[in-house]
Amino acid sequence: MIRDQYILDWHGTHGIQHWLRVRRNGLALCNAHGGSRAFIELFSVLHDCKRLDDGRDLDHGKRAAEYMEIIRNDIDKILAAEEFDDLKYAVEHHTTGLHTGNLNAQICWDSDRLDIGRVDIILDKYYLNTESAKDDSFIASLDNISLLSGLSDWFSEYLK
Ligand SMILES: [Fe+2]
Ligand SMILES: [Fe+2]
Repeated sequence: MIRDQYILDWHGTHGIQHWLRVRRNGLALCNAHGGSRAFIELFSVLHDCKRLDDGRDLDHGKRAAEYMEIIRNDIDKILAAEEFDDLKYAVEHHTTGLHTGNLNAQICWDSDRLDIGRVDIILDKYYLNTESAKDDSFIASLDNISLLSGLSDWFSEYLK
């Protein structure tokens, strides 16, 4: 399980509460733009799972992408096989990537960046991809969505 190898504070800056907010943001963007729900849910638990610290650690996306190959059998139970490479791209490049033509990756990166307020960084809309993520009323509406809304069974395991 991804949680078992996470070495930082489970309730810290990049732990489960962040994963849940990225998931919530991503599913809201999926509702607005289409996209793969399994893709964004997996991105939320994978993208920061190989961090070595809560600072910049710019290689954590690359390490997480490599880790995806190790746990590919588990991922394949959730994700359509043809989406694996795109998810790997989204995970690997979420640390440095700005814009991409892949809708699912756009949603993932926007979902992560929409949670940047937790570390007191003001969001610069230049770094966003989707129209909804740049929309102030959409951003405000996210706070009204429960973090546990529509949680998949496999994701629920992370909350125990
Ligand atoms: Fe990250
Ligand atoms: Fe993140």
